[in-house]
Amino acid sequence: MKIFLDTANVAELREGVAIGVVDGCTTNPSLIAKEKRPFRPLVEEICSIVPGDVSLEVVALDFEGMVKEGKELAQIAPNVVVKCPLTKDGLKAVRRLSGEGIRVNQTLCFSPTQALLSAKAGATYISPFLGRLDDIAHVGMDLVRDICEIYRNYGFTTQVLAASIRNPLHVVDAAKAGAHVATMPFGVLEQLMKHPLTDIGLKKFLDDWNKASAKH
Ligand code: G3P
Repeated sequence: MKIFLDTANVAELREGVAIGVVDGCTTNPSLIAKEKRPFRPLVEEICSIVPGDVSLEVVALDFEGMVKEGKELAQIAPNVVVKCPLTKDGLKAVRRLSGEGIRVNQTLCFSPTQALLSAKAGATYISPFLGRLDDIAHVGMDLVRDICEIYRNYGFTTQVLAASIRNPLHVVDAAKAGAHVATMPFGVLEQLMKHPLTDIGLKKFLDDWNKASAKH
């Protein structure tokens, strides 16, 4: 499973990439706005830091606007994947952009039917938002499982990108479901590495080593 960071913060991206386990990045208008930096230099920097795909989202709501913005975003760097929302116009935009060789991540997916249509339209990635479904007392992970099953049944090549991940259990369950990618905040990536028994074990090893005569 690929790991993407769900952030537009360049310090977090540099740190994640330096660890060597970050394969890509997803952004959205909220994450970009949080950085309080001009859009173009910010996303150019992100695309130069991240080794793999970087999702940049359109803000237009209509088909023509999404296609125009999508083409502009795709020019920024070869690793840009255009993000379009899962609406009727968004599906049309996915069909058009993917037909012109521009890769699209279709975002704000909340149902298996939306995901089926997105794959048929030619999306490179589908982004089911787990956390936001959990927020309204639906099991977000069921959606990931359903999409993986449907795509497997028909051999769709659209990759399932588990999004709106809020904790390590979401990552484990996404991996068990067979999601191709999990995108997560930097804090969740840090949580994935930690275990109290690792810290306790390490301390004991070093305490024993320091007490022992073997080191002299
Ligand atoms: O990947 C989508 C993500 O940015 C949304 O996450 O936590 O705002 O639901 P969240």
